[in-house]
Amino acid sequence: MTTTFFTPVQSGIKEVEALMRTQVDANQHPDLKAALDHLMSAGGKRIRPTLGLLVGHMLGGNHEKLVILGGAVEMLHTATLVHDDLIDGALLRRGTPTLNARWSPAATVLTGDFLFARAAKLAAEADYLPLMKLFAETLAIIVGGELTQMFAAHGSLNRENYYQRIFAKTASLFEMSTLAAAMISTEDESIRAALKAYGHETGMAFQIVDDILDYTGDQGAVGKPLGSDLLNGLVTLPAIYYAEGHPDDPDVRAIPEGGWTDNERVARLVGRIRASDAIQQAMAEAQAHVERALQILEPFHPSTERDALDELARYIVDRSF
Ligand code: IPE
Ligand code: IPE
Ligand code: MG
Ligand code: MG
Repeated sequence: MTTTFFTPVQSGIKEVEALMRTQVDANQHPDLKAALDHLMSAGGKRIRPTLGLLVGHMLGGNHEKLVILGGAVEMLHTATLVHDDLIDGALLRRGTPTLNARWSPAATVLTGDFLFARAAKLAAEADYLPLMKLFAETLAIIVGGELTQMFAAHGSLNRENYYQRIFAKTASLFEMSTLAAAMISTEDESIRAALKAYGHETGMAFQIVDDILDYTGDQGAVGKPLGSDLLNGLVTLPAIYYAEGHPDDPDVRAIPEGGWTDNERVARLVGRIRASDAIQQAMAEAQAHVERALQILEPFHPSTERDALDELARYIVDRSF
């Protein structure tokens, strides 16, 4: 990433990546090792460990523990992506083929499980029981979100359902990253709560923008398949705004009754959503989350890290990947 908020944590992120490598390098089965090497070299934005390092350093936390936390969070994130891509049948991630594009479902599931196990082991190395509890609770929330999405959310135009889903699948882990870093670094409950809220707001904004990019993004830049959320029955904020503004559109009315399985109908609808002001309305909502994140940071003493967190929040609504 060339963005400047990354600069204060650049060396810390290198340490996080090195630590993740030590978790996968130990003498495994050669096929598992190949899969893990593939995952490690595919990179990723490392946004979650960046959040943890910035928050922790802003509060004067222990660097070594923050690096361990960053490694645990990023491995947990990677594990959820491995399973998610298998569930979604997605063939591209971080600009390279997914494991499920090359491997059997069984091998992909097991590789994801291995990553979960290693993530938990790393989290335990921080030697702080509340972190383990938070880690386990967050994973349960993410899995619950994937299950809801799979069984109960297809074709749902309900806003509350959407907000619950994006909290579960994305904001919960952002929140964990900032809260855990704060827990490691300070006993002050109000500071912990403030940084948890900062993680929540940036996470909600991040997923809303991810959902917008599915409609407007450049697949080469984003590095994963785009334009397919609605085709998979996934109603996200742009579609919700469009539906609210056009309740009589027959294609909109068909969605909750399974209309998302009709490719022609969905292609038509996606074109209309793209051309409507629903995209700007969704973006304004992401911006409102970012505004709240910025307000949370305001009372903190000026520091390089606070400035970087400020910039990171702004970047979220300004990104193309
Ligand atoms: C992808 O997360 C999954 C979502 C929550 C949208 P990122 O966009 O942070 O993925 P990487 O780690 O940079 O590949
Ligand atoms: C995946 O959700 C995020 C998880 C935490 C499992 P999505 O399916 O919406 O994310 P992408 O678009 O594949 O990154
Ligand atoms: Mg997916
Ligand atoms: Mg998505």
